[in-house]
Amino acid sequence: MNHLSRRKFLAALASAGAAGLGGVLLRRKPAYAASGAGEQTTSQAAPASAAERLFTNRLRLPGASGLYAVVAARDVRQITVSELDFEVLPGLPSPFWAYVAEVDGKRLLNPTLLARRGDQIKLRMVNRLKQPTIIHWHGLTNDERNDGVGHYQVAPGESFDYAFTVRDRAANYWYHPHPHDIAGEQAYRGLAGLLIVKDDDEEKLARALDLTLGVTDIPLVIQDRGFSFEGKLEYKLSREQMFMGFLGEEVLVNLTVRPYLDAARRVYRFRILNGSNARGYRLAFAQGDRLLDYYLIGTDGGLLEQPQKVQEVFIGAAQRLDVLLDLREAPGSGPVFLKSLAFDPMHNESVDENTGKPAAATAQGGADPHAAHAAPGAIADGTETPLLRINIKSSPEYTRKIPSQLSRLPKLAATAGEPRRFTLGHDGEGNWTINGWRFNRHETPVTVRRGARETWLLQNNRASMPHPVHIHGFQFRVLERRGSPAQVMALAMRRNGLLPQDAGLLDTVLVWPGESVRVALDFSHPFSGDQTYMFHCHNLEHEDTGMMIGYKVEA
Ligand code: C2O
Ligand code: CU
Ligand code: CU
Repeated sequence: MNHLSRRKFLAALASAGAAGLGGVLLRRKPAYAASGAGEQTTSQAAPASAAERLFTNRLRLPGASGLYAVVAARDVRQITVSELDFEVLPGLPSPFWAYVAEVDGKRLLNPTLLARRGDQIKLRMVNRLKQPTIIHWHGLTNDERNDGVGHYQVAPGESFDYAFTVRDRAANYWYHPHPHDIAGEQAYRGLAGLLIVKDDDEEKLARALDLTLGVTDIPLVIQDRGFSFEGKLEYKLSREQMFMGFLGEEVLVNLTVRPYLDAARRVYRFRILNGSNARGYRLAFAQGDRLLDYYLIGTDGGLLEQPQKVQEVFIGAAQRLDVLLDLREAPGSGPVFLKSLAFDPMHNESVDENTGKPAAATAQGGADPHAAHAAPGAIADGTETPLLRINIKSSPEYTRKIPSQLSRLPKLAATAGEPRRFTLGHDGEGNWTINGWRFNRHETPVTVRRGARETWLLQNNRASMPHPVHIHGFQFRVLERRGSPAQVMALAMRRNGLLPQDAGLLDTVLVWPGESVRVALDFSHPFSGDQTYMFHCHNLEHEDTGMMIGYKVEA
């Protein structure tokens, strides 16, 4: 692709065969913007400080009822997948889809389910949508039926019964829709909740730091959204936007637009889920211009052995990061912002392949080449964005210390021999692929033996975008990263290019353009009979358009 810039190449791919390509949506201003401080809201050119002043909505926190209400999973008998009205934007009730549970006469929306390892979960999902759906328990080890994927989706008006034991480590799992082809839209319209599993290590940490869920131990679900003029969630994607994945015009936390949290000078735990359809974040805490240290304590599969001190961590769609922020270490009294720092999601495209020097993209003059792929008004992927304003309001007596030992991780080592290779690519006609395959619900191109240990090599093309690769059924360990972009390599803390979160168990791993990631898997589970699981990109638009394969675990 000598003279053609890779971004142009990607754009061309995206529009290959697309009749009536979008891009004709009018740039519209969300209605709520008028109620702000009278400043431009979506312009990337606005100085951060001006944008940051607009963080005037109290962060929604899980409580006893309403959104994210905390409830023991055992007490939930039914989840009704419902369409209702909800104020995503303050004062603008608009159509929203939610998982609704009634417990003790209280109505819970997208409840935060609590479980302990060993608990039984038995519940009925009732589909009140006008389209098929199914709930997937992301990150859990289940048999294929309870895993909940498109093969088990149920039609409108029908129901599906789950019954399973929580076998996995204490961690922050989540649940979301997984029907064939339309998972992206369903998640986007509101369907997503957390499943927090606890165990002794977890509870020990909570005691050591005096943490209370919903007060000082706070789930943060990060999702970007776009809104119509009336403040309705909008999900209309051109073929080109489907190719890149949905990018919204606002990044919400706990479905709160421009949120703030009043805090005390003490340690906070944030259980962070990137619940976005496609967007990645480079998470940092900053006070003024200064980045604060924070502590990574857990990943998709639960607590690390030791806390890792960091200043920034990438999080791809569907991943979780469990972190501690010690506000006693914030030097000033001004607000602390959780933000996503700038990064380049398609770094290889600005480097000339032959010279290795910055080239084409800038020379060809586009102000922001990513923006060309996004909907009008959308924030380009990799744009610096404030996410949550934390106001330090008080300085209580608090002398707790972050423990140095958190938990023990199961060993997962490399296996001898050649790894199984998977190439993340595209078919040249606007479709992403895995080893050239696109999803076919009747095929399982990969078979592994139950109980086998394997090494998988996930390789992303150079001319590509980051793909958050998710494997159902088993948590894995990252063994090595090669070819990582400089912005990623700079964060490597250990041998083999490993990042701080690679010290933990993962169910989803971000694979950057040009990167090869080796992961170790152990296909042991207690289920007899063959089980089929999904392996896919968790950019939900990629999943929906076929960047997914089924793999079989042969009993
Ligand atoms: Cu979180 Cu196959 O999904
Ligand atoms: Cu999953
Ligand atoms: Cu992808």
